Amino acid sequence: MIVLGIETSCDETAAAIVTDAREIRADVVLSQLDDHTPYGGVVPEIAARAHLQHLDGLIRRAMAESGLGFADIDAVAATGGPGLIGGVIVGVMTAKAIAAARGLPFVAVNHLEGHALTARLTDDVPFPYLLLLVSGGHCQLLVVEGVGQYRRLGTTIDDAVGEAFDKTAKLLGLGYPGGPLLEKAAALATNPGRFDLPRPMVGRPGCDFSFSGLKTAVRRHVEELGTPLSAEDQADLAAAFQATVAEVMADRCARAMRRFKETHPQGGALVVAGGVAANKTLRARLQKLADREAMPFVAPPLRLCTDNAAMIAWAGIERFRLGQTDSLDFAPRPRWPLDPTAKPAIGKAGVGSGVKA
Ligand code: KG4
Ligand code: ZN
Repeated sequence: MIVLGIETSCDETAAAIVTDAREIRADVVLSQLDDHTPYGGVVPEIAARAHLQHLDGLIRRAMAESGLGFADIDAVAATGGPGLIGGVIVGVMTAKAIAAARGLPFVAVNHLEGHALTARLTDDVPFPYLLLLVSGGHCQLLVVEGVGQYRRLGTTIDDAVGEAFDKTAKLLGLGYPGGPLLEKAAALATNPGRFDLPRPMVGRPGCDFSFSGLKTAVRRHVEELGTPLSAEDQADLAAAFQATVAEVMADRCARAMRRFKETHPQGGALVVAGGVAANKTLRARLQKLADREAMPFVAPPLRLCTDNAAMIAWAGIERFRLGQTDSLDFAPRPRWPLDPTAKPAIGKAGVGSGVKA
């Protein structure tokens, strides 16, 4: 089975071709970074226009790289949400057009499910598993029981963790996109233990997250130090922020692991996914925790953590194999929670179903 996947939900335009033998035949991603950098963040209207401009060329490139023709494709999958709606519409309409023209099945993929199932593409991880989903719009702990079967154990009550990285990077004067720049700055720290930041939620019952207090603490330090910060201050603060986030994550995951083990005595892996999963300090901290808890730990390769279309093609394969295709009437969904039964977190309604994934 060979599936063409399309991703257009945020600021990456991407197309990929993946087989049910877990083979990535092509995987092309075009970052719109240069289009958005002057504005310090993603501008939805610019993103939608850029997807429109580049998507057909990227699909052509993916087809050429794979050495396949449209006659070899068995289904077309596109991100159907959640995300910036203009971009999602571009991807969905393109996929529907190809499906209609070629008489192929169409699968509308939940972008979050794309992240969630990536570890099955890369490492063949069996269900069930415990998933830490950390991206620009989400920060959730979920039990993944199967395709389309998610139980949320925790979510953020304010900012998503990627958002916290991005905002903190801005406060430090590091620019956009915050996550990778902050990680780079932290690597240059000469005194990573210099700042002691609060660890929101650590030790509290439950598996929820909070990051706004941490961000405020960084802001106070920045104000005390005075802007622009020296490179040394930037690096030390970045290192403190990153280490604190990793500690918070480890604490929340440890609690989720306990709950997972109670409900799933047969065991399962700890999996991390989403853009923030590219962070090496976080990966190392989670590996240490998983070793302590005797749970396998799976983190996809860095390029499959950040947004890509291989994960959308793969989720399309998983759904298609189960006969779960969508009609050409499918309407793009700006919001699309993985666990629709989970209540909105206290503090910020709708966080679990946010607009960015
Ligand atoms: O999953 P993703 O590519 O897009 C969304 O669906 O949101 O995640 C993007 C987020 C951004 O907030 C970005 O700053 C963060 O992931 N990110 C990182 C790193 N690489 C990307 N955060 C920390 N460390 C990184 N290396
Ligand atoms: Zn994403």
